[in-house]
Formats: sequence, C-alpha cells, structure tokens
Amino acid sequence: MTNISYEEIWTKNFNNGLCIEYDKKFFSRFEKNIKHLEQLKIINKYSDDKTVLLDFPVGTARVSRYLKAKEKHGYDISDEFIAFVKKFGYHTNKVNLTERIKNKKFNLVITLHTLFAFKKQNQLEIIKNLSTLLKKNGIMIFDTYNKDYFYNDYKDKKNEIDFKENSLTTAEIIDTLSTLGLKNRYVIPHDILDNKYLIDWLHKKKIYNIINRIYFIFKLGNMINFLIKYFPQKYYMKKIYIFEKV
Ligand SMILES: C[S@@+](CC[C@H](N)C(=O)[O-])C[C@H]1O[C@@H](n2cnc3c(N)ncnc32)[C@H](O)[C@@H]1O
Repeated sequence: MTNISYEEIWTKNFNNGLCIEYDKKFFSRFEKNIKHLEQLKIINKYSDDKTVLLDFPVGTARVSRYLKAKEKHGYDISDEFIAFVKKFGYHTNKVNLTERIKNKKFNLVITLHTLFAFKKQNQLEIIKNLSTLLKKNGIMIFDTYNKDYFYNDYKDKKNEIDFKENSLTTAEIIDTLSTLGLKNRYVIPHDILDNKYLIDWLHKKKIYNIINRIYFIFKLGNMINFLIKYFPQKYYMKKIYIFEKV
C-alpha cells in the first residue's frame, strides 16, 4: 500500500460498523460468498470438538465461528475486531503476525485473506512464525496469491504493486516450511471469481446485481463451487495451503 499501511486500514478510524460491513460482504456478495463457503468446507474437515483452534488474524471470525472446536482463539492487531469476536466466546490477544508467541500451541492455525497484502519476504516470515504455534500433528491452513495467475507486469494501478513479482511460488512456500518440520498435505486452487477485473467489468455491464440476486435466491454457492474446481489452475487468483507439523 502506498499511503497507508495494511495495519492502519484496520486500526486507524476503524469501528464496529466497519467490522459489520466487512463481515456482511461475505454473505451478500456472490463472489465473496463463493470463496467463503469454499474455505469453510475445506477447513471444516480439520476441526472437531477436541480442536484447540487459532484464527490469526481473526477479523470477524467469519469462517472459524462456524467450526466445531474445544477452544477458539482469535488474535489480531485491531481492537475493533478483537471486541467483535469476543461475543462469539473467543479467547483473544492483541498481537502482530510477526510477533513470537511462546506460551500456547494449537491443533489448528488458520490465516485467511491476509498474507497477500504483505511483501514477499514478510509473507515467508509470517508463515514461519505461525508454524511455531502448532502442536505435533497440528494443521496450518492459509491462502495467498497464485503466482501463475498474474501475467507479467500485472499491476494494481492504484497501489502500483507488481503482484507477480511480490507473490511466492508454491515451491518457495513448501521448501521454507519443510525445513521447519512441516509436511505439505494439499495445495488447493482457490478464489476464481473475486477478481477485481472481472467484478469491475460486471459492474460496467450493470449485470452484477442481477447475477448477485440470482445467486442468493437460488442458493447457488455449493453448486458453483463444485463446477469451478474443473478450471485450469492459472485462472485461480489464490491457492489454499494445508501443512501438518510432523
Ligand atoms: C482482510 S482481513 C482478514 C480477516 C480474516 N482472517 C478473514 O479471513 O476474514 C485482514 C486482517 O488482518 C489484521 N491485520 C493486519 N495487519 C496485521 C498484523 N500485522 N498483525 C496482526 N493482524 C493484522 C487486520 O486487523 C484484519 O483483521
């Protein structure tokens, strides 16, 4: 980000109304809801009533609040999000993703919809740091940009970020975590429709609202998720990584 840091977006002048607005997007906009449902379906397999779960950064706990767990922990840098998730019974902690936390380990650590906002080197540091929070056989799940999705010199015009340059390869992620005793279980292509350019184009054509309405009236989430998994990998903007501490 050029003028404002990623942390500041969620901390400076941030309030409960903006938390609600952030959360609502995943339940009222089809492109975000598809992604949300897919994340829920994938992560659900790794959580049961014995799981000690950490959602970091927790945001509104939009995925983890629907999971079974023995204990739910939500860490974040934003006071507002922390206050928001307390009402779902979360144990909370105001910490930075780069901070070393020594006194607690988890069976499941999830980091969604966040890493891509950091510089490549910081993404690696964050996932290394998160891996230290796992118990033996603990599972870590995170998503980040799919480098193959971005054609050369694809730029975010507003912030001038070269996403291809700034994205990690799957090999870089797997190699880094394997040196820390983590085994890659799955890499899942993810997020095909919440694509800035596609959504901008749909808005220009003024058909977004019609598609959105049809999607929610006919509850098309799971059906679309079933169909889109057959697209070639390079069309997915992100990948979900699942690692186990062995
Ligand atoms: C896009 S939201 C994602 C929230 C949630 N994980 C989700 O999937 O909806 C980004 C989150 O990262 C948090 N955040 C940003 N920078 C952070 C940092 N350095 N350390 C901890 N949390 C941070 C924000 O407060 C916000 O909750």
